Amino acid sequence: MLPPAILIALATSITITSASPVPPPHREWVQRRQVAARSSSTLFRNTQDATNSDFNPLHHLAGIAPYFDSPGVELNPSPPDGCTVQSAAYLIRHSNIEANDYDYENVIQPFLLKLGNVTDKAATFANTSLAFLSTYTPLLSPTNATSQIEMVPPSGQSDAAALGKLIANYHSHLTVASTGAGNGSWDVWTATAERDEVTASSFLEGFGSAGVTLVSVGEGEEAAANSLTPHGIYAQPAADRLNAQNAAFNFTTDDIYAMQELCGYDTVIANSTSPFCSSSAFTNDDWLVFEYTNDLMYHYSLGYGAEVSPFLGMPWVAASTDLILGTNLSIPTNSTNSTTPFQKPYQKLFISFSHREEPAFLVTALGVYNNSVGIYGNETNGPVNKTMPDTTINTDRAWKTSEILPFLGHVALENVYCPANSTNYVRVLVNHAPIPIPTCQSGPDGSCPASDFAEYIKERQALYGDFIGACGLTGQANATDGLGIFVGDVLS
Ligand SMILES: *[C@@H]1O[C@H](CO)[C@@H](O)[C@H](O)[C@H]1NC(C)=O
Ligand SMILES: *[C@@H]1O[C@H](CO)[C@@H](O)[C@H](O)[C@H]1NC(C)=O
Ligand SMILES: *[C@@H]1O[C@H](CO)[C@@H](O)[C@H](O)[C@H]1NC(C)=O
Ligand SMILES: *[C@@H]1O[C@H](CO)[C@@H](O)[C@H](O)[C@H]1NC(C)=O
Ligand SMILES: *[C@@H]1O[C@H](CO)[C@@H](O)[C@H](O)[C@H]1NC(C)=O
Ligand SMILES: *[C@@H]1O[C@H](CO)[C@@H](O)[C@H](O)[C@H]1NC(C)=O
Ligand SMILES: *[C@@H]1O[C@H](CO)[C@@H](O)[C@H](O)[C@H]1NC(C)=O
Ligand SMILES: *[C@@H]1O[C@H](CO)[C@@H](O)[C@H](O)[C@H]1NC(C)=O
Ligand SMILES: *[C@@H]1O[C@H](CO)[C@@H](O)[C@H](O)[C@H]1NC(C)=O
Ligand SMILES: *[C@@H]1O[C@H](CO)[C@@H](O)[C@H](O)[C@H]1NC(C)=O
Ligand SMILES: *[C@@H]1O[C@H](CO)[C@@H](O)[C@H](O)[C@H]1NC(C)=O
Ligand SMILES: *[C@@H]1O[C@H](CO)[C@@H](O)[C@H](O)[C@H]1NC(C)=O
Repeated sequence: MLPPAILIALATSITITSASPVPPPHREWVQRRQVAARSSSTLFRNTQDATNSDFNPLHHLAGIAPYFDSPGVELNPSPPDGCTVQSAAYLIRHSNIEANDYDYENVIQPFLLKLGNVTDKAATFANTSLAFLSTYTPLLSPTNATSQIEMVPPSGQSDAAALGKLIANYHSHLTVASTGAGNGSWDVWTATAERDEVTASSFLEGFGSAGVTLVSVGEGEEAAANSLTPHGIYAQPAADRLNAQNAAFNFTTDDIYAMQELCGYDTVIANSTSPFCSSSAFTNDDWLVFEYTNDLMYHYSLGYGAEVSPFLGMPWVAASTDLILGTNLSIPTNSTNSTTPFQKPYQKLFISFSHREEPAFLVTALGVYNNSVGIYGNETNGPVNKTMPDTTINTDRAWKTSEILPFLGHVALENVYCPANSTNYVRVLVNHAPIPIPTCQSGPDGSCPASDFAEYIKERQALYGDFIGACGLTGQANATDGLGIFVGDVLS
């Protein structure tokens, strides 16, 4: 069961790790990028081609992927020509961590202990494609990683600062530092776990922290998504291949999964690409298997395969819509303090930090990345669970979590104003890629007219607004389904 957390919008949990990449994390956001004109054949970019010469394992690590800008559906990330962003809300997952608790105990530690038992490493690994294991020194302690688990390494701090700088440059006209509004005082929200707080403060170092109040939002219980890790289904070919080179270690599928996770974790710990990510260690197909295995797990735990997911994303979506459009959709039905409006109406940028689950919940609440409907909303791909078979990889899926919830993964809602016709449009961006709402994309570059967006969110609320009921919180005195997160109506 998912957490009875009150403030799921900021408060979900689970962590993963990541690798702070060295590879091209992101281009400057302020430059209007050259993107091929969108045609009806332009869907989510195919990232599942193992023969692609640009194939980068770090972009296929799902929740352990260091941040990278998503390719999305090839829409230009810059605002439509002639239009400017008037306000925006971001929900950002925490940055790199050295290891996630569950992954460490169940996957990585058993592998490192088994490796530590090998007495003649040179003989065991020489002449194999994992020859580096002969001299490998684990970056995560095999015996006691207490001081590393869930901790943000230096790369996580520098990656968060880099993202903060990008967003500050991109929205330079919206910051209170540039407008001077409200004497330059503004709020940022963070879940209270250390990894979130460290991410928030590192981000602000890059963004500029003048005048900021960091509002801590208490957390609910840990979610259980990790316990569903379904590894081992597809990894047998990799194990067979390695055992054929030298049977002494007796690689199991669990070992394969552990080493693929170490590609991510060791990379972020060292801030340098791990040898576990090298093409001699694993083939591109091995990485696609790892990615799909994770996508399946997240589909059922945080995505369209979990009925509760859109309910958990709805509070942030409604509250953020109110903040950027001035609507009034998120009135808490039973809040302890439902009537307090946000006290800084001049603030135009709303940034919050939370856990891995949150980007997944938000996209389901928004109705994007739904395999069943395609990006134009007119495909009929059948029931969503059928689109995620566990016997074969669906390479056409929209649900690729490397592009949704990597470290620093984020969902943004932008209110864009076009002075030529005095019209506002809303764009949904996930990791800087505009993702059109299947049934609302009549605006420029696939954006949704703001008035239609508000209607759309109302419809979604009618379907998924009963957060309290869906989460079994009925009767809990301080539960709120209206998300007072932005007004300090927080129950922790
Ligand atoms: C869906 O809509 C797009 C854009 O209008 C169109 O090009 C495409 O052919 C349609 N697909 C189906 C399956 O109807
Ligand atoms: C390591 O070796 C010890 C002693 O032989 C054994 O008890 C233990 O099960 C081994 N651990 C692993 C993970 O292989
Ligand atoms: C590795 O291969 C070389 C060259 O074939 C061979 O001389 C050596 O004995 C091999 N080492 C091991 C440990 O198998
Ligand atoms: C593991 O490390 C932590 C912190 O580094 C320490 O507090 C704890 O006592 C250690 N546990 C064991 C069993 O050594
Ligand atoms: C990690 O590597 C990146 C890219 O090389 C660099 O910009 C960054 O400063 C490094 N971070 C740390 C903490 O050294
Ligand atoms: C390899 O490991 C598996 C799983 O632990 C075990 O069942 C199998 O007997 C082992 N094979 C060899 C040759 O040691
Ligand atoms: C997908 O499968 C899960 C797990 O069996 C189930 O709980 C859920 O209701 C299914 N989703 C849909 C939309 O049928
Ligand atoms: C709100 O609280 C009242 C009184 O406690 C209760 O009767 C009502 O069912 C609650 N509404 C919802 C939507 O939970
Ligand atoms: C409601 O909000 C107001 C203004 O922020 C605050 O003074 C008051 O303490 C809040 N009441 C509760 C019950 O939280
Ligand atoms: C995903 O698309 C299917 C097909 O249109 C629809 O039935 C389902 O409600 C959608 N899921 C969500 C959470 O929007
Ligand atoms: C409004 O102006 C923008 C920017 O010029 C343009 O892209 C958009 O299509 C216009 N909308 C309508 C309804 O004409
Ligand atoms: C919220 O409700 C729970 C259970 O009713 C209670 O234990 C907790 O103290 C409450 N928290 C606040 C901030 O009121």
